[in-house]
Amino acid sequence: MANPIIRLEAVDKEYGKGKNTVAALKSINLEIFPGEFVAVVGPSGCGKSTLLHVMAGLEQPSSGRILLDGVDVTLISERDLPKVRAQKIGFVFQAFLLIEDLTALENVESVLWPVEGLTWEKKEEMALEVLREVDMLERRDHFPRQMSGGEQQRVAIARALVNNPPILFCDEPTGNLDSKTGETIMDLIAELNKEREMTVVLVTHNEDLTKYVQRIFRMRDGRIVGEE
Ligand SMILES: Nc1ncnc2c1ncn2[C@@H]1O[C@H](COP(=O)(O)OP(=O)(O)O)[C@@H](O)[C@H]1O
Ligand SMILES: [Mg+2]
Repeated sequence: MANPIIRLEAVDKEYGKGKNTVAALKSINLEIFPGEFVAVVGPSGCGKSTLLHVMAGLEQPSSGRILLDGVDVTLISERDLPKVRAQKIGFVFQAFLLIEDLTALENVESVLWPVEGLTWEKKEEMALEVLREVDMLERRDHFPRQMSGGEQQRVAIARALVNNPPILFCDEPTGNLDSKTGETIMDLIAELNKEREMTVVLVTHNEDLTKYVQRIFRMRDGRIVGEE
């Protein structure tokens, strides 16, 4: 079998201090393999977002190791972390998190603005290419407020893809959408998993979304309690 693209070893995450400590993650061990589409499913507050944040290097765990593509993200300096994140991962959030005063095209392109060694034209070409992939090319000059929730999420997905990362993390990507629109977004994510052979990790409380994935981890109270 291939090496895992994501590997967590004895990961703990605590918030707060003393008697206010919340143990959000408790000795998490898991492996995800290249090209897999997996879901972590559990009730609100069980630690799903925390898990995704530590996997993505957005937050440091309290203890344990996290290997992304063989690189231990817990050992990377604060300064180098954004670069590693940009190369390895795309992140899609429930609330889309587009920048309100940028157009669809600019939102996608903004990821490439700090990248050195690419011309302005090349960056625009790359952004247009991913907007085409999510079927939002015609809306490139629209601002977030001029788009529906589903359209905004498509743009947010394009933004997550423009660096060509091997891994896509999705935190309740359909949570702010009606069920019909949510299905079209899940179809798009499933297509990216298939066509681009991207590794996709989805976290959700929504059991309906498990039909899209190949493997399901059940989470309760900071622990992985089962795998299907
Ligand atoms: N920044 C934070 N500070 C303190 N507690 C937090 C913080 N983020 C999350 N928590 C707590 O950690 C637990 C897991 O939260 P979270 O990962 O957001 O769960 P989920 O995404 O499954 O709803 C909850 O008890 C939550 O209140
Ligand atoms: Mg959450």
